[in-house]
Amino acid sequence: MIRYRNVLLATDFSAAARAAASHAVAVAAVAEAELHLLHVVEEFAYWESFNLKHFPSQEVFEELESNARIALADLAREEELGAGATTHVRHGKPFLEIIRAARELDADMLVIGSHGQSGLSETLFGSTAEKVVRKAPCAVLVVRHPEHRFEMP
Ligand SMILES: Nc1ncnc2c1ncn2[C@@H]1O[C@H](COP(=O)(O)OP(=O)(O)O)[C@@H](O)[C@H]1O
Ligand SMILES: [Mg+2]
Repeated sequence: MIRYRNVLLATDFSAAARAAASHAVAVAAVAEAELHLLHVVEEFAYWESFNLKHFPSQEVFEELESNARIALADLAREEELGAGATTHVRHGKPFLEIIRAARELDADMLVIGSHGQSGLSETLFGSTAEKVVRKAPCAVLVVRHPEHRFEMP
């Protein structure tokens, strides 16, 4: 039988990711697995090729990172999560870093929202969600936005 040891929740702090967090907590609790919470601070490396006069300073990324750490710690402190979660902040392209983290943490299950901050909820999946499902090294649990209902045609 498969035993889940590491459950990895990736969050962009959107409503769908919040819903996904509840499922990640439930799976980790039932499986007695480690729960990891991850946020990826997006870096816009390709902007450099535009020779911008105003490029976001290092401080902007540092602030994004420290706010992400606070938000992850808040999420970890929420009652249902208990004290058990480990938090991780990475930089780069979200889908790549989510997959890298899944490998490095030896995750057995990745938990993500179907959509995120862009909120283009008419599409089947957000673009990060779609790439994570396609490329993940482990099982992926995709949790739909709570308000994203299927209307019968
Ligand atoms: N920067 C990020 N860091 C961690 N997880 C993320 C990040 N961006 C997206 N995700 C995960 O992927 C899910 C889907 O988001 P995404 O595909 O980006 O949707 P959208 O296109 O609506 O923004 C989110 O609910 C979250 O679980
Ligand atoms: Mg997104």
